[in-house]
Amino acid sequence: MLRENVIHADLSPYNVLYADGLPVIIDLPQAVDPRFNKAAQRLLQRDVKNIASYFRRHGITLDHERWSDDLWRRFVLGEL
Ligand SMILES: Nc1ncnc2c1ncn2[C@@H]1O[C@H](COP(=O)(O)OP(=O)(O)O)[C@@H](O)[C@H]1O
Ligand SMILES: [Mg+2]
Repeated sequence: MLRENVIHADLSPYNVLYADGLPVIIDLPQAVDPRFNKAAQRLLQRDVKNIASYFRRHGITLDHERWSDDLWRRFVLGEL
């Protein structure tokens, strides 16, 4: 999504539906374009943290700060 200049900005497990073996992300009216939104990095960090919290509850630990920092760095450098 970030490669396509989209940050969900309200991402939660409830907005990821699982159908026919594929995740389908819904609920995008508040999505932002990271090229123009000053809060973009913070919103990305929050989205990633929400998803990491879900996985943590199911026994999978993700370093959400490293994950979002890495995504943002690659976005800024055009490396996604
Ligand atoms: N196409 C769909 N198929 C199945 N469940 C859906 C679908 N769209 C929405 N839902 C259910 O409704 C909930 C709320 O939808 P969502 O679009 O996230 O609205 P909200 O803006 O209220 O968060 C979702 O978390 C999901 O459980
Ligand atoms: Mg929702």
